[in-house]
Amino acid sequence: MIRSARLIFAATAFFVVSAAQGVVSATEGVVSAAQGGEPTYHRDVEPLIQKHCQDCHRPGQVAPFSLLTYEQARKRGSDIAEIIERRAMPPWPISTTVGGPFRDARVLAENEIETIQKWVEADCPEGDAKDAPAARDFASTWTLGEPDLILTPSVPFELGAEGNDEFLVFVVPSGLVEGKWITAIDYRPGNPKIVHHILGAFDISGAARKKDEAEPGPGFRSFGGFGVLPAGTLGGWAPGKIAHVMPDGVGKYIPAGADILLQIHYHKNGKKEKDASSIGLYFSKKPIDKLLRGALVPTGLEIRNELRHKFRIPKIDAHHEFRANWTATYDAHLIGLTPHMHWLGKDFTLVATKPDGSKRTLIQVDRWNFNWQGSYEFIEPVAIPRGTRFDLVAHFDNSADNPANPHSPPVDVTWGEQTTDEMCIGFLQLTSDAERLGDKPPPMLQGLIMRARDRNRNR
Ligand code: HEC
Repeated sequence: MIRSARLIFAATAFFVVSAAQGVVSATEGVVSAAQGGEPTYHRDVEPLIQKHCQDCHRPGQVAPFSLLTYEQARKRGSDIAEIIERRAMPPWPISTTVGGPFRDARVLAENEIETIQKWVEADCPEGDAKDAPAARDFASTWTLGEPDLILTPSVPFELGAEGNDEFLVFVVPSGLVEGKWITAIDYRPGNPKIVHHILGAFDISGAARKKDEAEPGPGFRSFGGFGVLPAGTLGGWAPGKIAHVMPDGVGKYIPAGADILLQIHYHKNGKKEKDASSIGLYFSKKPIDKLLRGALVPTGLEIRNELRHKFRIPKIDAHHEFRANWTATYDAHLIGLTPHMHWLGKDFTLVATKPDGSKRTLIQVDRWNFNWQGSYEFIEPVAIPRGTRFDLVAHFDNSADNPANPHSPPVDVTWGEQTTDEMCIGFLQLTSDAERLGDKPPPMLQGLIMRARDRNRNR
């Protein structure tokens, strides 16, 4: 109902605009023709659809329809105008004005939105096909070249045709006989029709392997994460995600014998489908000085000692606030961050306050959407002097009005990994300014390895 009301409103606005233009066109027609007149599909709109929509809106990808031809775009003209006005597409749930700036932002600029809207208001003129940009080349090769190590689950996973999304963790032995520095990570979804997103990590405790063995078929089910506490994370993939090489001298270290974990969010499409997705690892060719390390807000200690026992979102509460903070104990650079909540998440803001009192909003997720969570990488790493405090403020909607609420009627919700539990964590990816490893394995990882073992034993 709301949807059709919005479309009627858009149609009314269109008539008002065109009537007004009719009055002035006799005198100003020359001016607008000189400025290029109304936008046409091939000249003005097609380049924008190519750049911002076709990563997903083409055959064999996750979006439900294609936007490759004039006809396909014209048919959905009013839907497109409405959805970009709401900034619901392309999917980018974070603020475009506060926080970041982040690499590869899936965002239409104001003037791009205006161009598409004017085109729809003008009744979607096709224009001259000679103005069209060359079709995009969607070659499915690795963008950074052939990886040094490609790992794929040996048995494809079979996804049912109908029902809820599924979250699987696949455990792939790395086969590494010595530890390796990694400077880039990329993913290749095996079946992009059903792969919504992929998260990577590595396990050295054997706990993931045990979970896998305990569940029949490839992989094991785990909604909110990897089902075990991994020793390190390996980024992730979502449609349109572009792999980048880490800053010079920065790497991730994967110890010998590690198991690689791929957590895959599957979206059913009405047909039985199969998938075996791959991770590609690029080994460092140059000496590495800094480990790309992780930190959590709230801290792992707080999660284990307090939140697991005390955290509670009362039922009905439509704006339940959660706060946490962490203070950097060393001079660092923040490379990227990953906000994480489940279905009740509403918004998520992380602010850094430096020791001199200056504040910077690092990220502001205005409309949390579990389906479109991502990792965000700063265009320029952010300097974090020792003593900088990270303040996280987030809200949950545990009311019946939240269509994503997994409980009907709502119930009190506590901390945990299940679909029906909640979490709120800001994962930070940092480098330490003082670290000079000279290509030697990071000593801190030894500590991490031990701690991961202990935690997994205590779960
Ligand atoms: C990262 C992938 C991705 C990109 C990029 C993307 N879309 Fe979508 N789009 C989807 C998916 C998936 C859906 C299905 C609904 C959903 O899951 O949100 C969708 C749905 C839609 C819908 C239908 C919404 C509804 O309520 O039925 C429209 C219209 C749309 N997209 C337009 C666009 C336009 C226009 C662009 C570019 C400006 C774009 N999309 C970019 C993935 C994408």
